[in-house]
Amino acid sequence: MNYTIPLFDLNYDREEEQAVLDVLRSKWVSLGPRTEAFEQEFAARLGVQKAVALSNCTVALHLALRVLGIGPGDEVLCPSLTFVATANAIQYVGAVPVFADIVGYEDLTLDPEDIVERIGEKTRAIMVMHYGGFPCRMDRIMEIAARYHLQVIEDASHAPTAEYGGQKLGTIGQGGCFSFFSNKNIGVGEGGMLVTNDPSLADQARLLRSHGMTSLSYDRARGHSTAYDVVALGYNYRFDDLRAALGLVQLKKLPADVARRDELRRHYLERLSPLPEIIVPFQQQRGRSTHYIFPILLKDSNPDRREKVRAFLMERGIQTSVHYPAVHRFSIYEKFRTSLPRTEYAADNEITLPLYGSLSHSQVDLICNTLKDALS
Ligand SMILES: Cc1ncc(COP(=O)(O)O)c(C=O)c1O
Repeated sequence: MNYTIPLFDLNYDREEEQAVLDVLRSKWVSLGPRTEAFEQEFAARLGVQKAVALSNCTVALHLALRVLGIGPGDEVLCPSLTFVATANAIQYVGAVPVFADIVGYEDLTLDPEDIVERIGEKTRAIMVMHYGGFPCRMDRIMEIAARYHLQVIEDASHAPTAEYGGQKLGTIGQGGCFSFFSNKNIGVGEGGMLVTNDPSLADQARLLRSHGMTSLSYDRARGHSTAYDVVALGYNYRFDDLRAALGLVQLKKLPADVARRDELRRHYLERLSPLPEIIVPFQQQRGRSTHYIFPILLKDSNPDRREKVRAFLMERGIQTSVHYPAVHRFSIYEKFRTSLPRTEYAADNEITLPLYGSLSHSQVDLICNTLKDALS
């Protein structure tokens, strides 16, 4: 289907082309100097001590749990209204995902009070997810974590440079994980980053990123090392310089892109404000979002109606999506199922409308008018 208004558009131009060309011509395309530069620049932007570039965010979540020592039998609290990778990572280390509900329809992030209800003797960590780039209630979550001696891992896939209480998301807990999948705020195809203020965690992650080997091929190619030992059971979770080159350009463009998304969101809100059939979450904003997506919720609705509304928009060339089907209802999560009424309603009735820098005001007007027609 060729959409007139797709859900997402890449913010690429000649700068990205040139950056990739430079790497090709340098003849070093795997993990090397550009990856290091990207890690340093990313850490500086976030005001965090260490950043480790990885193949994607899923493995960043896995490594975060592993270096924090979460393992078999441990329980990790997490949202169900998220991408499945958040919960899968918990299972990769043999731990048990314990799903908690969202705050409500105005705030689709993890409910700290529901977390408290689900803490047990085996609970070791809380995995939060900053939905759409909007911060979770981190003050309360960190207070709970301190009280019950829990680690906090932030799935900040949607939130590079978003803020809460003057701190960048991903830097508030013990580890923060970011995605650079092509539709994210920083898009490079596939990529991820683990950030932490604990240098020993970063060292472990760096070691595990490349098979637990004590030297990298880049070090050996430069003659800095000739041999290596393998001191831990690691993985191939490496990033590469082609993607790092894209990441550096995307990072430079990020402030302007976020400002544009913020402005488009305000335009959406103006156009949608008199619409009683929907809720636009996150109108009471805490901190600063990166506006990764623009979610709306249908009021007093059901999945059939939601799909009819989406089909109406699709027939008129407007692409939409759903963030997210609830993870606890997937087949492989059957044994972890629990009652999460607010998550279930949101999963059944959310629609994600297009949002990206190159979207015009007139396109937003068209989307809003078509939505109104669909609802009437
Ligand atoms: C909330 C969330 N967590 C984790 C991931 C996984 O990221 P990646 O595709 O980089 O592994 C995504 C990507 O879609 C995501 O949206």
